[in-house]
Amino acid sequence: MPRLANIGCLATCANPAGQDDIGLIRDAALVWRDGTVRWAGPATALPAEFEAEPALDAGGRLVIPGLVDAHTHLAFGGWRADEFADRLRGRAYLEIAAAGGGIASTVRATRALEEEALLARARQFLSDMVSLGITTVEAKSGYGLDMETELRLLRVYRRLDEMGAARIVATCLAAHVVPPEWAADRAGYVRLITERILPAVAEEGLAEFCDVFVEDSAFSAGEARRICERGSELGLRPKLHVDQLSEGGGAELAASLGAVSADHLEYVSEAGIEALAAGGVVGVTLPLATLYLNQAPPPARALIEGGVAVAVATDFNPGTAPSYHLPFAMTLACMRQRMTPAEVLKGATRYAARALDLEGEVGSLEPGAAADFAVIDAPDVEHWLYHLRPNACVAVASRGEICRGVLRRA
Ligand code: NIG
Ligand code: FE
Repeated sequence: MPRLANIGCLATCANPAGQDDIGLIRDAALVWRDGTVRWAGPATALPAEFEAEPALDAGGRLVIPGLVDAHTHLAFGGWRADEFADRLRGRAYLEIAAAGGGIASTVRATRALEEEALLARARQFLSDMVSLGITTVEAKSGYGLDMETELRLLRVYRRLDEMGAARIVATCLAAHVVPPEWAADRAGYVRLITERILPAVAEEGLAEFCDVFVEDSAFSAGEARRICERGSELGLRPKLHVDQLSEGGGAELAASLGAVSADHLEYVSEAGIEALAAGGVVGVTLPLATLYLNQAPPPARALIEGGVAVAVATDFNPGTAPSYHLPFAMTLACMRQRMTPAEVLKGATRYAARALDLEGEVGSLEPGAAADFAVIDAPDVEHWLYHLRPNACVAVASRGEICRGVLRRA
């Protein structure tokens, strides 16, 4: 039974409640077997039965649960650096989209790539993410927007998950925007999703969740309701992009549809916050997207004080969040969303796992949870998120196997 010794500071995130309760233990030890945590606690309390086990040395560092990135658009073709420069010159995101750029331009680049090429790109991104300490990644389709390409993207995610570098949780986002070829027949595209794409996704077991971008420029609340109700019938629970670019009652809609999470929330209303809290819907904030769109941040403090569990994720995509650097997004959440480092860590571990219906399985270090952890070269969580570095993560374990870095024997 492997053991990690000499942990200066262990954040177990074992308590379901309390955004800032990260279960800190100083001078801790961690024991696992067959990929699953068996024991976590103060080194002085290590049960005698584990003492003779071979131990690895964490070097007095910070150890956290493997990070969970609960919102990414991991597989896509091309990039959109040209639009980045256009936006800096003053062109609005929606203006670029209306002229055929934006999501539609990534859809063209994605449709042009075969499965192997999409896989190779996503695999490299994922490899970098694991090096940052991320061991679970939610990944959305949504740059195919036709039956064939949506399924291709989701098959890429299944293959990535099988490769085992990290756990991949797939979401069907066929309702990202109405693709140009359906512009004259929106209802026809919604029917394509509900009658063909979602049933095929469910039949092949290619996704856990279905997502809709609810926005004036994408789908209405009524369309989202039809799509999510069909998804739910097929066993695909809703997760929604809401209240990102305008206030549209998206959080209330997410709660009424039994969504597991409501993501973005820059424009969430007070009534929306109440609805999320009452429905136990996780609020997923995406500080990189807020930053790149030069927006005011979502009201994280009001969400937390209103009783909503707040997650922090990257939204990695080629338009609004061209980075998978979750630790950087976490530092941004501290600075711009006024969340404490402890609150942010809970949001990128346990509450991110809750946003994927995986709470207690990943995102916490407690008996029965996956032995996914990251060793961070910092004395504590405050120091880690304050001192922004390219990568402070020195070792990563996924299901109990050290997959990045080398730890000395204790
Ligand atoms: O999460 N909001 C919708 N979708 C993405 C942006 C996609 C894009 O611009 O390519 C997001 O921000
Ligand atoms: Fe997104």
